[in-house]
Amino acid sequence: MKRKTLSLQCAIILFCIVLSACRTGPQQPGLRQSTGMYQYDNETKSVGVRKTGPYYSDRQAVTGKNGMVASAHPEASRVGVDMLKAGGNAVDAAVAVQFALAVVYPGAGNVGGGGFMVYRDRSGQAYTLDFREKGPEKAQKDMYLDSAGNVIPSLSITGHLASGVPGSVDGMVEAHRRFGKLSWAQVLQPAIDLAEKGVVLTEREALGLNRTKKSFLAVNPDKRYFMKPDTTDWKTGELLIQTDLGQVLRRIQAQGRAGFYEGETARLLVAEMQRGGGIITENDLKNYHAIWRDPLVGTYRNYKIITMPPTSSGGVALLQLLRLVEPYPLRKWGWNSDSTVQVMIEAERRVYADRAKFLGDPDFVKVPVQELIDRNYLKNRWADFSFDRATDSKNVKGGNLPGYESLETTHFSVVDKDGNAVAITTTLNGGYGSRVVVGGAGFLMNNEMDDFSIKPGVPNMFGLIGNQANAVAPGKRMLSSMTPTIVEQEGKLYMVVGTPGGSTIITSVFQTILNVLDHGMTMQQSVNALKFHHQWLPDKTTFENGAFSDETIRKLQARGYILEQLTNSLGRMDCILFRPDGTLEGASDPRADNTSVGY
Ligand code: DON
Repeated sequence: MKRKTLSLQCAIILFCIVLSACRTGPQQPGLRQSTGMYQYDNETKSVGVRKTGPYYSDRQAVTGKNGMVASAHPEASRVGVDMLKAGGNAVDAAVAVQFALAVVYPGAGNVGGGGFMVYRDRSGQAYTLDFREKGPEKAQKDMYLDSAGNVIPSLSITGHLASGVPGSVDGMVEAHRRFGKLSWAQVLQPAIDLAEKGVVLTEREALGLNRTKKSFLAVNPDKRYFMKPDTTDWKTGELLIQTDLGQVLRRIQAQGRAGFYEGETARLLVAEMQRGGGIITENDLKNYHAIWRDPLVGTYRNYKIITMPPTSSGGVALLQLLRLVEPYPLRKWGWNSDSTVQVMIEAERRVYADRAKFLGDPDFVKVPVQELIDRNYLKNRWADFSFDRATDSKNVKGGNLPGYESLETTHFSVVDKDGNAVAITTTLNGGYGSRVVVGGAGFLMNNEMDDFSIKPGVPNMFGLIGNQANAVAPGKRMLSSMTPTIVEQEGKLYMVVGTPGGSTIITSVFQTILNVLDHGMTMQQSVNALKFHHQWLPDKTTFENGAFSDETIRKLQARGYILEQLTNSLGRMDCILFRPDGTLEGASDPRADNTSVGY
């Protein structure tokens, strides 16, 4: 039995994104000139597209001289900048933002989830921290299959069995222990205040909570969480107070990791699991540890890319994509011209096939990272490509590497006055995760187990398929697409980028980087620019309305490409660019509540 390509959770996120649709802003004259490809004709009937231009909106960047925080919520960005102003560094600000997002953005911000951090300090030294969730020790390879070997619908998506062991709190403790300057108590305080005094709901958050009400009620006996006392719908501007979450944050503030992984919070979490048939134990919590990993570093043209190694597939895939397109004159061809789009799609097709075959938790399977990003290997991956005709995904398999058998997320970026930079992508997976709120603790649990390949070849909620390399196992981290990334130019900090979006994270980050490096866009233009996505299977290219000119559509269709216009949008980027004059450009996505705050 197939799992749905897009779960209800994801549908809610996507619906929310659509809400802010407004893309009638003026085009950038310079951009129009430099690429010369924004003249649309009227021949759009073949795909029923109404052309509106290459940008989602004309949102302008935020600038600052001393620091910048770009995140999914204005309150969280404000908290981050307050930390910087109080003398904190980028890591202090990032930790405060992570905890603030757990309060103000419950759909994806979290203490019950996990994520990745890429950190580049002012001297250029880079670090990555893997605080991805882990399979509980009672997890089993076939735990989501029935006795006939078929996938049990929703079991890895909704309810108690969907959760991996959360990693976010240990990740923040580790990041702060190693690099923080302010006290732990100080970085926790803003989140505690927001939980106890309440957060004013944005239109998007009110809508998200209302749309999730039914499943909150279905899985949680305690009807208070994320609900108004009379269970009527939330309205924009109303105050969401989270007293129990405030207590959890106070325990974390007082006891560090023990405030979450041991004692009262752990007791409540395990009791919740037992009540609902989940399998996370006290041992699982006690044994959870975030891991410092060597950053994945590579070059694209003369830029250095610092990104996340496995357990994310994002960094490997991003470097593969950049290196696959490197030999081609994308700038000359122009932004989203038929040739540019064609080589990007074909690169994506091959990279996602490799992802499905080779990628998994490096602590459990040998992941051929260097082999996959090797330029000779990638050159060979082009062997069956022809400009005349789309390659058929059926004929594309993961590459041959001798010795290797097949076997609602949110991103934020911070730069401080010294040039220390943090990129964090963190997630519960689907919007509001498993929908399970830990009774007495008031926080949502992730549904990250769905990121495992629960049966070879069966797509997960993002349509991604996988294999043995990403099979469920106790203590194993599930494969991710999250791609927090930092780009250097001539040894100096240049860009901090990242986004949510499940399988589309990798291709959105890819496009956002190319838009700046190859197409001369500013950071904000690059974020605003309309995007497209291909992931090998299903064999189709999805695109935001307006991302392709009529000419591009016509030419790609003539070569056999299946194009599908999205009714929702792609990406919710939060990026920062270091301009040559030393100004920081904060570029948050106009597709949602994302906001940059600088000073
Ligand atoms: O780690 C991953 O790749 C997914 N759990 C990310 C989920 C996500 O981005 C959902 N947001 N739209």
